[in-house]
Amino acid sequence: MSFLKNAWYAASWADEITAALTPLEILGERVVLYRTSDGQCAALEDACPHRMLPLSMGRLVEDTVVCGYHGLTFDAAGACVAAPTSVAIPPKACVRAYPLAERYGLVWIWMGDPVRADPALIVEIPHWGSPGWGYNRGPVMPLDCHYLYVADNLLDPTHVTWVHPGSFADASCAAVPIETTSRPEGVTAARWLLDVEPAPFYAKHLKFAGRADRLQHYEVRYPANAIIKAVFVPAGSGGKGQPLHADAFLMDSFNFITPVNARQSRYFWFQLRNFAANDEAVSRKLTDDVKHAFEEDRVILNAVQIGMDTSSKPTIDLKNDLASHRFRTALARMIAKQG
Ligand code: FES
Ligand SMILES: [Fe+2]
Repeated sequence: MSFLKNAWYAASWADEITAALTPLEILGERVVLYRTSDGQCAALEDACPHRMLPLSMGRLVEDTVVCGYHGLTFDAAGACVAAPTSVAIPPKACVRAYPLAERYGLVWIWMGDPVRADPALIVEIPHWGSPGWGYNRGPVMPLDCHYLYVADNLLDPTHVTWVHPGSFADASCAAVPIETTSRPEGVTAARWLLDVEPAPFYAKHLKFAGRADRLQHYEVRYPANAIIKAVFVPAGSGGKGQPLHADAFLMDSFNFITPVNARQSRYFWFQLRNFAANDEAVSRKLTDDVKHAFEEDRVILNAVQIGMDTSSKPTIDLKNDLASHRFRTALARMIAKQG
């Protein structure tokens, strides 16, 4: 299984990286993350070049990582700075250091060629830190499935009808056609649902009463960064190209999927909203409700992985697969090109 290497992936919530040596598996590679005394995060290959003991089993001493077997010692750039059992430092005693960047409360890691690790390539979040916008986040969700099954799900507005009947779905969701758009950075599947009863997850937060026009915007950027936008406006005021109603409910959900390996993924998510910006109770309620809904996805996606692993029959495609098909095709091309 190959992954897109020259890309930023969410490695951890920034506030979860401390001086403790934290082992992670990302794109099938073992990495150890930690924070040095100047507050910078560092990421090293988690294998001592002597006997491949994970460096995360060693100790952090004055910002250097000391192997827990024979004391080979590495700085944050991966250079060996001490070899206590040898007369001199062996020339090949080094480990790989991964470029990192902290942004949006996350530590991002670059798994490819370090020369190309430009933080400007991290997905852009326009309303981050904007006054009037609220924020909520939940814990990272481990998934026992390939990350592209998650991308499929996040490019598929239809699934809410069956997977989230008590939260994101409304009665009208199923049959409305979806517009699929491909751009160099990703694929979007979107549709306006006109004159609908607001779905339960959203109804309690709307500024207006009665029926609504609803936008479902499901976008995934390469390699696996989803931007899911929900817009609700009073019925009759929405639709493609319409100016935004003053009472519009806007919620952008950011979902970053980091492949662990070919069978596991980690799912980072947070939401930004244009209402109740500083209301902690609203943030907590949204986090609880989103967690509940994403748990519904997790059950399905883990079972899809098992189903795909245990069946030898070819799968069939449905109309709602168009966006994920385009996404997978373009991503496969990028992965093939990286060699
Ligand atoms: S295994 Fe690390 S120094 Fe021996
Ligand atoms: Fe879902």
